[in-house]
Amino acid sequence: MSLELNVAFNRAAELILDQNNFVRAVLSGRRRNMQTTYERIDIRPVQLKDGLKLQLVLSEAKQDTTKNIDADKSAILELLNSGYANVLVEFTTGSYSLRITKKGDALIHEGKGTFERTLAHDRTKERLLDSSDPYLIEVGISDHKGVIKPSMQDKYRQVEEFLRILEPALPEKKEKLSIVDLGCGHAYLTFATHQYLRKAGLDAKVIGVDVRENSRDRNNKIAQKLGITDSIEFRAEEISDTAIKTADIAIALHACDTATDDAIAWGVLHNVQLLLIAPCCHHDLQTQMQEIPEPWPMLTRHGIMRERLGDLLTDSFRTQILKLLGYRVDAIEFVGGEHTPRNLMIRATKTGAKPDAIDVTRYKEMLAEWKVQPALAQRLAKELGAI
Ligand SMILES: C[S@@+](CC[C@H](N)C(=O)[O-])C[C@H]1O[C@@H](n2cnc3c(N)ncnc32)[C@H](O)[C@@H]1O
Repeated sequence: MSLELNVAFNRAAELILDQNNFVRAVLSGRRRNMQTTYERIDIRPVQLKDGLKLQLVLSEAKQDTTKNIDADKSAILELLNSGYANVLVEFTTGSYSLRITKKGDALIHEGKGTFERTLAHDRTKERLLDSSDPYLIEVGISDHKGVIKPSMQDKYRQVEEFLRILEPALPEKKEKLSIVDLGCGHAYLTFATHQYLRKAGLDAKVIGVDVRENSRDRNNKIAQKLGITDSIEFRAEEISDTAIKTADIAIALHACDTATDDAIAWGVLHNVQLLLIAPCCHHDLQTQMQEIPEPWPMLTRHGIMRERLGDLLTDSFRTQILKLLGYRVDAIEFVGGEHTPRNLMIRATKTGAKPDAIDVTRYKEMLAEWKVQPALAQRLAKELGAI
């Protein structure tokens, strides 16, 4: 239904100001020829000591700011008319959505539904990682007041979104779940995984591996300070040479270049059931892409496209190799691109299934066409030779 804009805004404001039924509102997108200060605004009611307020979460690419305001009609109308193209309002018995077209028309839709209202001002329950958890302060993601440092917002998001994918994939194992973080660096993800599993009441042992001795020493010191050395430890080892015998789950976040291949190969060779691997830079195949098969030069003649194709080829070989070696594999975006351009994750679960002939053929043909030997294929040459 099309409505005059001010009538549509008034209806949205009325619903937002309904003290008994308003659940939440989201303002997003940008109207033609208008600028918005924030990428998106989330509004919800919160019960504070001095009464019912509206909480605004003002989201920018790298940071969210939270502000509580009085339920004032002119303030709400001002927000609604501040350049956003989409307004969604949910209330206990339904929803109202407003889209402002390029021509400035208001298209509205009202639907029935049941939405639950929560007035707690503490939003931390919706987060997997409490920003004031001492571990986040110790590793340097949060400041001493327990607030995420602006410079660490991206890492915080990467780690949290990584955990969101880990959580539903956890095996049903009650005792000593073992997890290794390969190429753990400053161990943001390693500690996060440990704290998360501990809070979930799981009996887990987490080990971080990194070739750098100073990382090991720093991380072990933090573990000591937090009093958790019985369930987390750090080792200074090459991934390919680690003395760890096996693990239920192997994770790797941005292990440089072929360290990602080391991590995948280690998982395959040590019978790891679940691999969650977010690759980093991809130099290995880039340097091997010398004889480009036709008609691909059309694409590789442009440096940036050649590089992206090299990344895609690398990760395609990785996923295919895992598939050939008995894993169910998918490649997913684990975090928004605004938090890292390296936002692809390879998720592989061991099934032991035999590969289809067509997958073996495709793999061999790709290798032959591109005349490359991916690092992962070299590391798993024996296993691949047996299929
Ligand atoms: C880009 S950092 C990522 C660190 C961490 N996972 C994170 O996301 O913050 C990559 C880490 O991998 C480590 N690394 C690179 N090659 C390695 C190898 N072959 N064996 C063990 N660690 C390696 C580096 O020392 C570095 O700490």
